[in-house]
Amino acid sequence: MARTLRLLFIGDLVGAAGLRTLKKFLPMFCEHYQSDVVIVNGENIVNGKGLTQKEAEAIFELGTNIITTGNHVWENWKSRPLLASNRRVLRPQNYPGKNPGSGQAIIELADGRKVAVLHLQGRVFMQPIDCPFQTAERLLPRLKAETSMIFIDMHAEATAEKMALARYLDGQISALVGTHTHVQTADARIFPGGTAYITDVGMTGPYDSVLGMRTEVAFKRFTLQTPHKYESAEHDCRISGVHIEIDEQSGQALHIENFMHPPLPRSADELR
Ligand SMILES: [Fe+2]
Ligand SMILES: [Fe+2]
Repeated sequence: MARTLRLLFIGDLVGAAGLRTLKKFLPMFCEHYQSDVVIVNGENIVNGKGLTQKEAEAIFELGTNIITTGNHVWENWKSRPLLASNRRVLRPQNYPGKNPGSGQAIIELADGRKVAVLHLQGRVFMQPIDCPFQTAERLLPRLKAETSMIFIDMHAEATAEKMALARYLDGQISALVGTHTHVQTADARIFPGGTAYITDVGMTGPYDSVLGMRTEVAFKRFTLQTPHKYESAEHDCRISGVHIEIDEQSGQALHIENFMHPPLPRSADELR
């Protein structure tokens, strides 16, 4: 009988509030979805910049298998020793290889099931790092030799770049989810080859903000056109994620659904 692996992915944690939100809601969603594998993006936890050993431990204590990150992880010097020492904390694979850490890992569950995780970053409106398409093509045969279930966190700004990569790899990977923009998109779907996709999973953290940053700081940056210190916001916290079901034999996705909890207000009444 075909068996199904249930994977939960949580979008970018922002600030201490984001970590608190994860602690509050993750157990409920793991229970609800009966998740076998949990992956959390932690690129923005310490004032928007990366994470340290302490935050990583707190996230792993909740049962998380892998933490992915992104471009902001490099802005926190304390993240680098963590990337160098903990193989369960990933940075995008297509950065120059002399940077600490790795962007690939194999999760081995207690019952022997394996899931490969590949972390990539886009190049449109971002650093001109190695090509994510070629990096994926180069690494997939090695990952496929380990398991049919392959998951990609594609950390990128441009919608087209994320969607193009997912379609380019359709049928070769179980799922590709986008991170980095902090706004959940309404396009969760499965492509014809069996690859689940969403352009962006969205943010876990304070929504009384501009993408997790204090609104007054965002105003200063945009109106004054000069740098102003990033400060994470605190209030109106929500968790954003996707639940994906994967056929263990074929590695094809069977189902994807996105969630945000609590949902955003859709009427003025809800704000009163
Ligand atoms: Fe982020
Ligand atoms: Fe990012």
